[in-house]
Amino acid sequence: MDVFSSDTGHEQVVFCQDKPSGLKAIIAIYSTALGPALGGTRFHPYATEGEALHDVLELSRAMAYKNALAGLDLGGGKAVIWGDPVRDKTEPLLRAYGRFVASLGGRYYTACDVGTYVQDMDIVSRECRYVTGRSEAHGGAGDSSVLTAWGVFQGMRAAAEHVWGTPSLAGRRVGIAGLGKVGKHLIGHLVEDGAGIVGTDVYEPALHWVRERYPQVDLVPDEAALIRSDIDVYAPCALGGALDDETVPALRAKIVAGAANNQLAHAGVEKLLEERGILYAPDYVVNAGGVIQVADEIEGFDFARAKLRATGIYETTRQILELAATDGIPPALAADRLAERRMAEVGRLRMIRL
Ligand SMILES: NC(=O)c1ccc[n+]([C@@H]2O[C@H](COP(=O)([O-])OP(=O)(O)OC[C@H]3O[C@@H](n4cnc5c(N)ncnc54)[C@H](O)[C@@H]3O)[C@@H](O)[C@H]2O)c1
Repeated sequence: MDVFSSDTGHEQVVFCQDKPSGLKAIIAIYSTALGPALGGTRFHPYATEGEALHDVLELSRAMAYKNALAGLDLGGGKAVIWGDPVRDKTEPLLRAYGRFVASLGGRYYTACDVGTYVQDMDIVSRECRYVTGRSEAHGGAGDSSVLTAWGVFQGMRAAAEHVWGTPSLAGRRVGIAGLGKVGKHLIGHLVEDGAGIVGTDVYEPALHWVRERYPQVDLVPDEAALIRSDIDVYAPCALGGALDDETVPALRAKIVAGAANNQLAHAGVEKLLEERGILYAPDYVVNAGGVIQVADEIEGFDFARAKLRATGIYETTRQILELAATDGIPPALAADRLAERRMAEVGRLRMIRL
């Protein structure tokens, strides 16, 4: 993806460098039509500068769509820090990054992403006001996986209602791939609703935690076994690209609803899912609980208010599935259309001079 190619349309892309601390960062703002751009900072050892740029352009665009459908008055942006988070992350580097974010004057708010944590945001915030995802001790929203899991559960309920006529997951079997921060919270909501659960993870401590806390969860060796098991719902909660030309034909579930970003490995997978009669609840719609949680920090964090907004993911997912059915299009496309409509219709209001 190139910055100036016609199909991207990013507003602003900023390259930031501070040689002494080793900071190399790119901040991409896709759209501020709905408000300041919000999106996390990914700290990752990309192979090339081109790869880092490609990632930040894709991720910032996705944030604009996610924030629009989450009903937030926020645009979409994202940042990447090019480096190894374990080796290169230092206080001077994070603070240098904070000063670059500050230099954008509030056009971009940052947050945590892969490779950055609440403690890092606390450090960034010593140089910059435009930071969310800080620790609770610093007035932040804390771990965003709490409301991410709650939102995924709401999206799953809306999909269940669409397919089976009732939002309850009681008696259904849900397969969760990835029993990390989100997967663990999701188990809790599903158990409470009366669902059966099959899970898998590559990390032994995660499996151990589940065995201890929820002995009723069936654990299988890997994702391949999970998708072939007798499940009604598949919840990808590990990495992206879970749905591809191999997994979709093997999948036994009727619904896919999970937290992972970019679940469709490539364009066209959404049609494959449709042909197999599998309902896909779009990833960026159902996993918006996390951004809702951190966005609430901008107003002064209130968990009850953020949870209420994340509960709205049920209604948003329902609307998208209905629009998809009415227009005869895949839900992923219906979600994009609704997001674009909100960006255009609400964003346009700023043209009314005050
Ligand atoms: N945490 C949030 O607020 C949030 C918000 C939106 C989206 N997401 C996305 O949801 C997903 C999960 O996030 P998280 O915060 O729980 O991350 P996490 O790192 O805590 O958990 C991910 C888990 O997946 C496991 N895993 C990795 N590869 C696997 C594989 N091949 N098979 C099975 N398990 C595998 C890891 O061992 C880990 O336990 C990620 O894709 C993330 O980008 C998270």
